[in-house]
Amino acid sequence: MSKKSTGGLGMLLLAAVLSALFLEQCLAQFAPHQATDLTTITSPVDPDIKISYKTPKGVCTTAFSTQKQYTGWVTVPGPFPTNLFFWFVAAREPTSALTIWLNGGPGSSSLFGFFAETGPCEVVEKGADRLETAAREWGWDRASNMLFIDQPNQVGFSYDVPTNGSTDYVTGDMNTPPRMLPANRPPSAFMNGTFASLDPNNTANTTRNAGMAIWHMMQGFLSAFPEYNPPRDRPLGVNLFAESYGGKYGPVFAEMWEEQNTKYRPRRPLNVTIDINLAALGIVNGCVDDLIQDPYYPTMAVNNTYGLQLMSPVRAKLANATFYQPGGCQDLVMQCRNASAALDAGNGTNTRSIDDLCRQATDACNKLIEPYLEAGRSVYDIAHRLPDSYPSSLYIEYLNSRAVQESIGSLVNYTDTNAAVYTAFISTGDFVRDAMVPKLASLLSRGIRIGLVYGDRDYICNWLGGEAVSLAVASAAGAPYSRAFPAAGYAPIIVNDSYIGGVTRQFGNLSFSRIYQAGHFVPAYQPETAFQVFARIITGTSVSTGEAIDLAAYNTSGPANATSSLSLPPSPTATCYVRAMAGTCPSDAVQSLLKGEGVIINGVWYPASSAWPGATATKDPSGASSSPTTSPTLTGLFTATATPKNIGSRHKVPDWCIPVGLFCVWSMYLA
Ligand SMILES: *[C@@H]1O[C@H](CO)[C@@H](O)[C@H](O)[C@H]1NC(C)=O
Ligand SMILES: *[C@@H]1O[C@H](CO)[C@@H](O)[C@H](O)[C@H]1NC(C)=O
Ligand SMILES: *[C@@H]1O[C@H](CO)[C@@H](O)[C@H](O)[C@H]1NC(C)=O
Ligand SMILES: *[C@@H]1O[C@H](CO)[C@@H](O)[C@H](O)[C@H]1NC(C)=O
Ligand SMILES: *[C@@H]1O[C@H](CO)[C@@H](O)[C@H](O)[C@H]1NC(C)=O
Ligand SMILES: *[C@@H]1O[C@H](CO)[C@@H](O)[C@H](O)[C@H]1NC(C)=O
Ligand SMILES: *[C@@H]1O[C@H](CO)[C@@H](O)[C@H](O)[C@H]1NC(C)=O
Ligand SMILES: *[C@@H]1O[C@H](CO)[C@@H](O)[C@H](O)[C@H]1NC(C)=O
Ligand SMILES: *[C@@H]1O[C@H](CO)[C@@H](O)[C@H](O)[C@H]1NC(C)=O
Ligand SMILES: *[C@@H]1O[C@H](CO)[C@@H](O)[C@H](O)[C@H]1NC(C)=O
Ligand SMILES: *[C@@H]1O[C@H](CO)[C@@H](O)[C@H](O)[C@H]1NC(C)=O
Ligand SMILES: *[C@@H]1O[C@H](CO)[C@@H](O)[C@H](O)[C@H]1NC(C)=O
Repeated sequence: MSKKSTGGLGMLLLAAVLSALFLEQCLAQFAPHQATDLTTITSPVDPDIKISYKTPKGVCTTAFSTQKQYTGWVTVPGPFPTNLFFWFVAAREPTSALTIWLNGGPGSSSLFGFFAETGPCEVVEKGADRLETAAREWGWDRASNMLFIDQPNQVGFSYDVPTNGSTDYVTGDMNTPPRMLPANRPPSAFMNGTFASLDPNNTANTTRNAGMAIWHMMQGFLSAFPEYNPPRDRPLGVNLFAESYGGKYGPVFAEMWEEQNTKYRPRRPLNVTIDINLAALGIVNGCVDDLIQDPYYPTMAVNNTYGLQLMSPVRAKLANATFYQPGGCQDLVMQCRNASAALDAGNGTNTRSIDDLCRQATDACNKLIEPYLEAGRSVYDIAHRLPDSYPSSLYIEYLNSRAVQESIGSLVNYTDTNAAVYTAFISTGDFVRDAMVPKLASLLSRGIRIGLVYGDRDYICNWLGGEAVSLAVASAAGAPYSRAFPAAGYAPIIVNDSYIGGVTRQFGNLSFSRIYQAGHFVPAYQPETAFQVFARIITGTSVSTGEAIDLAAYNTSGPANATSSLSLPPSPTATCYVRAMAGTCPSDAVQSLLKGEGVIINGVWYPASSAWPGATATKDPSGASSSPTTSPTLTGLFTATATPKNIGSRHKVPDWCIPVGLFCVWSMYLA
């Protein structure tokens, strides 16, 4: 108090000078308020749909500079303004395949997938406070045109109404209008920005509502870019690949597209809607159905293939019991679904009176994860201790630079995860409300390929539960799947001449793959394996070898279980990404940062500038991506001609496989 008053006029003057100096900087924290160079067209299929887009320049380096890119927003009709952001990248070589990639959440941006998993480029450090991009060797644009969509509304660069606000990285809270810098926060931990409204009423609150917006969005995109709409007469069509909560987005969106095709086709040519010709649905570590997957939470904690005991067998038994007990997860989910079947219209118009019941069921099911959290390990990777900063979050810093925002034409800052969307989905009990297995079975019966891909170190949507989903889908699909799929054995996924990336069970259009040494974000962990599996699913080849097959009759052969054990790698040390502080920074780093200690380089906090890896690197700090000794081949798919021997492979060949030519001789048959 006394210190302040002695400051007098001098202090005030200094304050005035400082505020003038900082004014420009503060204003610059808000996103550009006018987007330039956007071309806006009205969709010929619906006058209420508008598409505004541009070619972004210099923000994503692709394998070939000739690859076309478009960024833009599709404005879709609805009870609130919806502007869905997309980033399109054409394939490296011409193909009719168009793949839509969706991340989960609900509320997570698909640009996480773009920059950290399957996209054409990744963010690399080119110097202190210099982030650039480099082409990703195993980007999925190697085999398909790629469309990344930020959905539901308000996620990533999607928005309802651009709204100025502030974000506190220590708590993760976002607020509109902007707040003053709290007394105990350095400016690096509290920033202004322009966001969506953050109003949970202005976004989808169910997967079905989100799906309707996406259908409209696709009508807009395909009418603006008909050259990327796969013709019906080609074997390669539209593919939808979705991760995590995508275990719900995938089945629901795909089913809706089929329904919409069927509904509007007879009304053509009067009605000019566009068919979405879905060829394949891929689900990557999807949480598809709690009723099927949740009993595997305790199992994964004690009976995983890494020999790691994550809770005591007694705790596991108790957790298992909470699933089955009256008023537990199973009981409440069934009550919710029974009520939904009786009362919901089945078209996204939910009956509000059962929202509470379905929300309680969600809470009861989430209880099964709680004992695991005590182990202090990441729910996305049992090998990683908390905080788990894998994969890199450099892209969050990159996307919040003015240069990138101007290049893509954004009026809003980038929001990696929007809590308002999560809140909206929780409020309706969307997590458990719909059974997804019948939808997947019905897609199979329509001839759509279904590829379930699960990294084997994930806990939250673990592969044991994923395998159970695959068996449930086969059973629900009836003959021939119900008999032939479970009878098909697990075959190795041959990734290249020296590496087996996992095992897969496939019959016809249905496959389930366990990917070795991968957490939740499979393509980030095992880029080459994830790419080959993806390419085989969309081309309809053998997921095991990449060979052309007769899909009507093909089945893999091998053991009935995919239980070969591997050794757990050491946990990496965390990198403290300031814009993802809550999830990535150790608490001592947060304390130091709050005291103003250390330095921030490229959005990462270090105790001293000498700790920045670039400080000691002789060349550029991006490491592997820079000046490789031999440049990688950036095109082509791999087809196995032999099963790799246990040479040069990073992980041991499963012990049940004795390679003989192209095939394994199963040790169980030899025994
Ligand atoms: C954010 O903007 C508000 C309103 O313009 C301003 O009062 C505040 O000082 C700004 N905060 C920061 C950290 O720049
Ligand atoms: C928003 O973007 C601007 C650049 O346009 C950046 O200076 C600011 O830090 C960003 N704010 C947030 C909260 O990310
Ligand atoms: C955000 O604040 C800046 C600075 O006051 C202003 O120029 C801009 O128009 C505001 N944007 C929105 C969307 O309100
Ligand atoms: C959202 O809608 C509900 C029900 O219509 C209303 O009670 C609530 O106040 C709204 N929330 C906001 C933030 O406008
Ligand atoms: C979900 O969204 C719909 C449509 O916007 C709205 O009518 C309904 O009230 C919302 N439900 C909840 C629980 O907020
Ligand atoms: C197509 O049919 C839908 C549903 O009947 C209708 O809402 C829409 O207006 C029609 N569009 C045109 C262009 O006729
Ligand atoms: C783990 O495996 C053992 C041996 O097969 C079995 O007895 C136990 O019930 C399993 N525990 C869980 C939680 O699945
Ligand atoms: C879990 O509980 C169910 C129902 O009581 C029981 O049938 C099953 O064997 C249990 N599983 C494990 C692994 O304990
Ligand atoms: C839900 O409905 C099914 C089939 O109608 C019935 O067997 C089951 O007992 C019901 N479960 C609950 C919890 O209401
Ligand atoms: C869904 O169906 C109900 C009852 O048939 C109807 O009132 C409602 O308008 C429909 N909603 C949509 C989005 O089609
Ligand atoms: C084979 O794949 C593994 C895993 O992706 C990779 O580490 C290895 O370099 C690849 N080998 C060759 C010869 O391409
Ligand atoms: C092995 O697979 C068979 C057939 O799918 C299944 O019945 C059995 O429960 C599995 N065993 C284990 C340990 O997972």
